[in-house]
Amino acid sequence: MKKITNICCIGAGYVGGPTMSVIAKQCPEIKVTVVDLSEARISAWNDENIDNIPVYEPGLSEVVAEARGRNLFFSTEVEKAIDEAEMIFISVNTPTKTYGAGKGMGADLKWIELCARQIARVSTTDKIIVEKSTLPVRTAEAIRDILANTGNGVNFQVLSNPEFLAEGTAVPDLLSPDRVLIGGDQTVEGKEAIQALVDIYAHWIPKDRILTTNVWSSELSKLVANAFLAQRISSINSISELCEKTEADINEVAKAIGTDSRIGSKFLKASVGFGGSCFQKDILNLVYISRSFGLQEVADYWERVIIMNDHQKKRFAHNIVKDLYNTVSGKKITFLGWAFKKDTNDTRESAAIYVADELLNEQAKIRVYDPKVKEHQIYEDLDYLNTRKPEENKEQVKIFEDPYRACENAHAISILTEWDEFKDYDWQRIYDNMLKPAKIFDGRNILDAEKLRSIGFKVTSIGVK
Ligand code: NAD
Ligand code: UGA
Repeated sequence: MKKITNICCIGAGYVGGPTMSVIAKQCPEIKVTVVDLSEARISAWNDENIDNIPVYEPGLSEVVAEARGRNLFFSTEVEKAIDEAEMIFISVNTPTKTYGAGKGMGADLKWIELCARQIARVSTTDKIIVEKSTLPVRTAEAIRDILANTGNGVNFQVLSNPEFLAEGTAVPDLLSPDRVLIGGDQTVEGKEAIQALVDIYAHWIPKDRILTTNVWSSELSKLVANAFLAQRISSINSISELCEKTEADINEVAKAIGTDSRIGSKFLKASVGFGGSCFQKDILNLVYISRSFGLQEVADYWERVIIMNDHQKKRFAHNIVKDLYNTVSGKKITFLGWAFKKDTNDTRESAAIYVADELLNEQAKIRVYDPKVKEHQIYEDLDYLNTRKPEENKEQVKIFEDPYRACENAHAISILTEWDEFKDYDWQRIYDNMLKPAKIFDGRNILDAEKLRSIGFKVTSIGVK
C-alpha cells in the first residue's frame, strides 16, 4: 500500500479540528483538509486572528498557527476534498435521536449516512474511510454497505479509529495519548488499510501504544471506555450523598480508596454531575444496543449511571433552595462557570444548564460569569430546553463579563465549573458586596472552604456535612 499523502476530514468540530491540526503538525508531508457544511465554523477556523478559532483548547492556537496554510486547510468544498483524498476521516456529530424509534436513546446516524452516501457518489479513486465519530457497534457494516453499492468500481476499506481526547486537554491528549485504537477487517486489504493509518500515528506515537483490533471491538471499546469513566463519577457522587448524612468527607474517602492501585485516583472527583456531549449519549447508546439484543440486565445496569447523574444535578439545585430558606423566588444567585468543565468553551450537557433550569422554575434570578463561554451560547442552551420562552430566559438570566460585578448583591454563589481562576479571586471583596448571610455552594469542591468561612461565608461543598 502506498503512503498516504492526502487526508480529508469531514466535520470541523471539537474532535475533527484539534485531531487534524495535530496530525498536520506531526506529518508535514501530508496534506490535511478539514471540511464542514457550516460556513461560519470554517471561516472561524480560517480567521486571521488565531484567537478566534471556534474551539478553545489550551495550546491549540499554536498548533493551528504552525500548520495552517502549510499542510492544514479548512474548507467548505466538501466534494473536492473527498475526491482528492486517499484517506477520509468521518468526524461528524452523532447525537442522541430526538425522534422515531430509539428516540432519546439511540444514536442519530443521519449525518454519518449522509457522509457515506456523499463519499460513494463523489469518489473516483480507492479510499480508506476512517470512523472517527463515536458510533454504535456494527455501524461500519452500514457504511460499508452504502459504499459497496456505488456501482462506480471504487474500492473502500472502512476502519474504526475512535477518539479518546478529553476537552480542555485535547492537545496534550493527542500529542501523547495512552493509546490509539484502530479496528479493521482481518483480510489482506483490511490489514493494509490498518497499516496505512498506523504509519500516520507512528510519526509521533510509540508503536506499543497503537492497538489494532477487529472493527467491532474498536467500535464497542469506545462506548465502554466512556461508560466506565462516567460510572466512576456516578459511583463517587452516590457516595457523596451518603457522606452528607454521615459526616464522612467525600474528598477523604476518594483519596483513601484512590490510593489502592487497583482502583486508581483519577475520575473520583465528586461534582454537581458530569456533563459534556458524550458520556450521556454514549451510555444511552450502550443501553439501547443492549436492550435491542434483549439484554435487559445489562441495559438496566448501565442506565443507573445516568439516573444517578440526573439525581446529582437535581439534588444540588434542591439543596440550594432548601438552604436559602426554602425559597429562591426573586433571589439573585450567581453562577461562576457555565462550561461543562474547565479549559473549554463547550457547554453541551453542562450541569450548569440543568441546575439553572431547576432554579428558574423556582423563579430565581440567575447571573452567570464564565471566562470562555459567550453570552448567546448561554441563552441558546436555556432556550433549547424549551421550559420557558426565550424572553423569559432573557429576563431572568443576566450574563456578566466581570465576576465581581456578577456577584454584587447576590444572595448566593454557585460554582458550576472548576475554572482555576475562581480560586484566586479576592473573596473578601466579593463577600463585602454580597447580601448577608453570604452563601457559596461549591459544586466542584475547588474552593478552600475553611478560608472562606473565616471571611464569613457559609459554604456548602458536595459530600461534606
Ligand atoms: P461537533 O458537533 O463539534 O462537530 C461536528 C461537525 O460536523 C459540525 O461542525 C457539523 O457542521 C459537521 N457536519 C455534520 N454533518 C456534516 C456533513 N455531512 N458534511 C460536513 N460536515 C458535517 O462534534 P464533536 O464534538 O467534534 O464530535 C464528533 C464526534 O466525535 C461525535 O461522534 C462524538 O461522539 C465524538 N467524540 C467527541 C469528543 C469530544 O470531546 N467532543 C471526544 C471523542 C469523540
Ligand atoms: C470524555 C472522556 O474523558 C474522553 O476520553 C472521551 O474521548 C470524551 O469524553 C468523548 O468521547 O467525548 P470529556 O467529556 O471531554 O471527555 O471530559 P472529561 O474530563 O471526561 O469530563 C466529563 C465530565 O465529567 C465533566 O463534566 C467533568 O467535570 C466531570 N468529571 C470528571 C467529574 O465530575 N469528576 C471527575 O472526577 C472527572
